[in-house]
Amino acid sequence: MSKYVLVTGGTGYIGSHTTVELLESGYEVVIVDNLSNSERFVLKGIQKITGRKVPFHKVDCRDLARLRRIFRQYKFDAVIHFAASKAVGESVEKPLLYYRNNLDSLMNILTLMREFQVPNLVFSSSCTVYGQAEKLPVSEQTPRREATSPYGNTKHICEDIIRDSVAAYPEIRSIALRYFNPIGAHPSAEIGELPRGVPNNLIPFVTQTAAGIRPMLSVFGDDYNTPDGSCIRDYINVVDLAKAHVVAVDRMTGGKMKQRFEFFNVGTGRGVSTLEVVKTFEQVNHLKLNYKIVGRRAGDIEAVWADPTYANEELGWKAEKTLEETLRSAWAWQQHLDRQAK
Ligand code: UD1
Repeated sequence: MSKYVLVTGGTGYIGSHTTVELLESGYEVVIVDNLSNSERFVLKGIQKITGRKVPFHKVDCRDLARLRRIFRQYKFDAVIHFAASKAVGESVEKPLLYYRNNLDSLMNILTLMREFQVPNLVFSSSCTVYGQAEKLPVSEQTPRREATSPYGNTKHICEDIIRDSVAAYPEIRSIALRYFNPIGAHPSAEIGELPRGVPNNLIPFVTQTAAGIRPMLSVFGDDYNTPDGSCIRDYINVVDLAKAHVVAVDRMTGGKMKQRFEFFNVGTGRGVSTLEVVKTFEQVNHLKLNYKIVGRRAGDIEAVWADPTYANEELGWKAEKTLEETLRSAWAWQQHLDRQAK
């Protein structure tokens, strides 16, 4: 019998790609999303790729009563909790919104998991919990640092809420995946990242600049202590990242966890600079990008990339896609969007 997974935030960027991978691995998926930062038509993209219509409920995870109805309606084996606000800059302006959204939603999920005996939670965490680490790459042993934004702090606090809940309540267990920088789109170009308004993140800004929607990309800083002076990140293909969630659900539902709360770095192990991203994007897509170097962006970390050894060995998961094919997929997705808009 198929296992049922509740995916909160399932119409979002990582949620939609994970839904596809879960369906293709034989899981049944139910999506809950309040559509605050995603679109209903994403469901059509998922259906086009998988041939499956996913049950969808427009529910805000802060709404305990409505969420309870969903838990009553289905018998879930696991929850993947993506639903959260994620813009670093906005979180500085609206901290209470971020704490309310991200903490209340998680606490509601944990409450209902206990109430309905759903034992398994995969949580979306972030490399932001490491801050600017003294030693690179960062492994799971790298100490977490005080967050530099309310958004980052919510990830920190959410990990602590899960740790304490798992310690107190024997009926639940959890895997937190600490994402590095997810980029790219599904190879079908039917789903991808859908930023609203002016993108905050690098890749959607790059693809929108290439498409002529934005006149120019600003590269934030070339005076960092890195080989070319621009910041370094670990850019991971979103489909590779989605697959890590399937492996995490398999591990939990298959009774293979070694501890009742585990966390893994989900990255490629390769640090790439902003300028390298720009140049590789130009090369693989045969175009020129209009960009200029500007000052540093407040709150940016100089460099961070993953040591993914623990995830590679313990989960048997590894990032497989190259930066080149990932940047091609990002451009194919932007072109798909542009065709739709015409
Ligand atoms: C940040 C957070 C991450 C969070 C993500 C969500 C850290 C280390 N990372 O990622 O946890 O999940 O936001 O939004 O806190 N850049 C430009 N020009 C642009 C946009 C970006 O040069 O127009 C550069 C940035 O300076 C950075 C890199 O590109 O060096 C990546 O930026 P971005 O995509 O915004 O992700 P992070 O800030 O790394």
